[in-house]
Amino acid sequence: MTSPMLQLEGVVAGYGPTTVLDHLSLQVTAGERVAMIGRNGVGKTTALRTVMGLVPLRDGRIVFMGEDIGRLTPHQRAQRGLGYVPQTRDIFPSLTVEENLVAGLKRRPRAALDDAYALFPRLAERRRNGGGQLSGGEQQMLSVARALLGQPRLILLDEPLEGLAPLIRQDLLRVFRRLSDELSIPVVIVEQQVDEVLGYADRALVLDHGTVVHAAPAAELREDTETLERWVGLAVH
Ligand SMILES: Nc1ncnc2c1ncn2[C@@H]1O[C@H](COP(=O)(O)OP(=O)(O)OP(=O)(O)O)[C@@H](O)[C@H]1O
Ligand SMILES: [Mg+2]
Repeated sequence: MTSPMLQLEGVVAGYGPTTVLDHLSLQVTAGERVAMIGRNGVGKTTALRTVMGLVPLRDGRIVFMGEDIGRLTPHQRAQRGLGYVPQTRDIFPSLTVEENLVAGLKRRPRAALDDAYALFPRLAERRRNGGGQLSGGEQQMLSVARALLGQPRLILLDEPLEGLAPLIRQDLLRVFRRLSDELSIPVVIVEQQVDEVLGYADRALVLDHGTVVHAAPAAELREDTETLERWVGLAVH
């Protein structure tokens, strides 16, 4: 068996007096696509932010590529190869597309830029446009492309399809497929678009009260309306 790339063991985290993640354990192996679903407020975003070090770990362990990263800064975790696309698209409206892509990078990684433009030809066409002039879908593409410029070994996506039209969602999912299929980058994707994300992912984790309450192959969960109704509160199809 291949050892997991990312492993969370009994992770506890929260805000002030509130515990949000309550002994959350999960594993992600190379090239995998893992969907994380669950009702609003169950801790999906907190889980991703804790992996990135944006929410402090109170207990448990986070191991990435064999290293315990639970006490590293967010910057150090990014350097180790964790890429993160937050729920709120974090682009700079006053910078151009290309300036957004290279912002914060010491060198201009030509090859990585070319790769990003190859994945998102639309961004290549608009490379000199202001970030604020982009459509919602293009902004999301820019957000994902920016994360890729950091040359991540694993990428965490928080509701990347939110607020986008169905055709744009399909475009994005096609790109996310290429990440794992062609670049072998495993993807952890949090999504409310349950039917679409279960069609995309290999494996699904259902969260409730900050812990995994159900784990199954995504295709199996997609047909399991009872579990979906119970934990996610909506039936698909
Ligand atoms: N910065 C914060 N300070 C205090 N409480 C917070 C903060 N961020 C989130 N919470 C609380 O933590 C809980 C989990 O929030 P989180 O954002 O992780 O949920 P989520 O599963 O991502 O929800 P959604 O599907 O709505 O995005 C919620 O009760 C939320 O109100
Ligand atoms: Mg969230």
